[in-house]
Amino acid sequence: MFRIGPYTIDSQVILAPMAGVTDRPFRQLCRKLGAGLVVSEMVTSDTRLWNTRKSSYRLNHTGDVEPRSVQIAGGEPQMMAEAARMNVERGAQIIDINMGCPAKKVCNKAAGSALLKDEPLVRDILRAVVDAVDVPVTLKIRTGWAPGQRNGLAIARIAEDAGIQALAVHGRTRACGYKGEVEYDTISQIKQALDIPVFANGDIISPQKAKQVLDYTHADGVLIGRAAQGRPWLFREIDHYLRTGNLLPEPKLEEVKAILLGHLQELYTFYGDFMGPRIARKHVGWYLHSQPEGSTFRKAFNKLESAEEQTSAIEDFFVQLMNYKASA
Ligand SMILES: Cc1cc2nc3c(=O)[nH]c(=O)nc-3n(C[C@H](O)[C@H](O)[C@H](O)COP(=O)(O)O)c2cc1C
Repeated sequence: MFRIGPYTIDSQVILAPMAGVTDRPFRQLCRKLGAGLVVSEMVTSDTRLWNTRKSSYRLNHTGDVEPRSVQIAGGEPQMMAEAARMNVERGAQIIDINMGCPAKKVCNKAAGSALLKDEPLVRDILRAVVDAVDVPVTLKIRTGWAPGQRNGLAIARIAEDAGIQALAVHGRTRACGYKGEVEYDTISQIKQALDIPVFANGDIISPQKAKQVLDYTHADGVLIGRAAQGRPWLFREIDHYLRTGNLLPEPKLEEVKAILLGHLQELYTFYGDFMGPRIARKHVGWYLHSQPEGSTFRKAFNKLESAEEQTSAIEDFFVQLMNYKASA
């Protein structure tokens, strides 16, 4: 359990923000399946870009699960402050600042993890956003800019001084992308140095790994990114293991099918008849990639254009899968 401002979060497992993945349907599903907190996909602080279709989905916070944590990205203090204010007006209850994303699209504009190079600018951005809103502001960072410039600890101290109320640390430098060992040592040092909640992130893929990382770093929680794709029940598995020391059994095929079909239905409703089936494809790929014949099915599935065709293809696939498993 930990607190962020007025919010008490009673599961230590958090869904990491992932652009193109953690949309409202996925956030709601993960929350229902045991995530204590979910964070939106990042929204650019450049409000001139807010009238695109993509931004309009990301900026719509009504009906979202609470507390609504919205991530913003950008490199200019006043623009970030304004973006934070406007998201709070639209219903954000926590503002999360992205200084952890290495994506070119973000780094080229000196935002995301590129900011870590410039500590005075980090301080200015954090102060401007904290001053601009009366909701808690949280921050997500990497351990530094490059292996020779690991200033994660300095940035963490700047963050706490600026009034940031929780810090998530992806244990890699910006230059490391998603490769190489995660530096849980650095996360542990940051946790020791701060009083605010600190969350560990990077390569946590199982209940046992989550416990190991929490024991090692003494972090207040873990952020789960890629491992939750197509596996949203991972949150309840980790939460249960942390509370009881026991592993839950894998979900039965019946339940996987029900979760997947429910997820698709929410995607169709949220994105509509054209976009919905297109966005559904990547999720279906993630859910089914480890099932027998999953990749063959995926190729055929990706050609289907309507919600009805997709739903009945999934139903048929699960009938085959259950027969196959029954006879194996
Ligand atoms: C597809 C994808 C999109 C991401 N988008 C964001 C983002 O919008 N904001 C952010 O702070 N981090 C983003 N990240 C980084 C994740 O939040 C997380 O830090 C990283 O994936 C490491 O955690 P993991 O090993 O559990 O996946 C993204 C990662 C992926 C794979």
